[in-house]
Amino acid sequence: MLDNELNNLRQTALPAIKVADAAALEELRVALMGKSGSVTALLKSLGGMEAEARKAAGAEINLLKTEITEALTARRTLLDAAALEAKLAAERLDVTQPPRPDPTGAIHPLSRTTEEIAAIFSAMGFSIKDGPDIENDWNNFSALNIPEHHPARAMMDTFYLNATFGNRPAVLRTHTSPVQIRTMLNQTPPIRIIVPGRTFRSDHDATHSPMFHQCEGLVIGEGITLGHLKGCLIDFLSAFFEIPNLPVRLRSSYFPFTEPSMEVDIGWNRKTGEIGGGTDWLEIGGSGMVHPNVLANCGIDPRKYQGFAFGVGLERITMLKHGMPDLRPFYESDIRWLRHYGTSPLTPASLHEGL
Ligand code: PHE
Repeated sequence: MLDNELNNLRQTALPAIKVADAAALEELRVALMGKSGSVTALLKSLGGMEAEARKAAGAEINLLKTEITEALTARRTLLDAAALEAKLAAERLDVTQPPRPDPTGAIHPLSRTTEEIAAIFSAMGFSIKDGPDIENDWNNFSALNIPEHHPARAMMDTFYLNATFGNRPAVLRTHTSPVQIRTMLNQTPPIRIIVPGRTFRSDHDATHSPMFHQCEGLVIGEGITLGHLKGCLIDFLSAFFEIPNLPVRLRSSYFPFTEPSMEVDIGWNRKTGEIGGGTDWLEIGGSGMVHPNVLANCGIDPRKYQGFAFGVGLERITMLKHGMPDLRPFYESDIRWLRHYGTSPLTPASLHEGL
């Protein structure tokens, strides 16, 4: 009777253990060895036996118990090892694999130019500011010494909005210069900032878009001179175009918010498009010494502080640097153009040493 039971158990339990997965194995262990498991029940039945019979049966049952325990342990070890193998295979990192050959995106040339400018000016101790695309006419014009009805407002024919901003008529900013005002109102000198950003004018042809980008620069401190302005522009432009000794010319001009005012030209060859060579000049921005009225409008004492400002057209310098003939594709999202002129996101802007 007992022998039968032992045999049955041995014949069903051992093969079942051999093929069980982790969950089934645990179920089997409980069913056999748990508190109300079948092996435990057999052991308990020993209590009701005669001494002789108990001795013989005890040996048998314990033998089976050992066989089952060993089978359970062996199976558990095997399953654990297999699980570890699977985990290691799944988490394997092949450090010898080459990077993905074709990153799915490219950095837009304008973003790239912005990153490069930021890298160059950071190294010169400038911080980067931004301001809203929708301005009020005080920040965009009046505070910059362009009074209402002044013809200079027409120079930057703009989009007025049917709204007010800070109790003043709202305009799409015509240049990044209003961020000069915002910064000088909130910061005390010394100030050294650049402001890359979007600007708007009602202009549209092959080289003008109603929406375009500029980068403003502003330095305010004690004893700042036109020499500093010129040195700063020369350093920036030669780093950006990667041409040492790039010819830079400051040409006398007029802006209401600077005095004296100068257009910034770089040397190039009109025929070949080569930058830095030839005898032609190309305008890439405006500049000048910040007008005392502008400083005073922002609560900065013009007798104590001086400064310079400049603004360059980002599309213009990007087109020049990369030999792009037309401005319009910048905003057309043509994937072929982006692939051609875009740069890999895996290559950071590192024009300037140490960045
Ligand atoms: N804001 C001027 C423009 O858009 C450029 C400029 C900036 C000129 C700073 C002088 C100083 O035309």
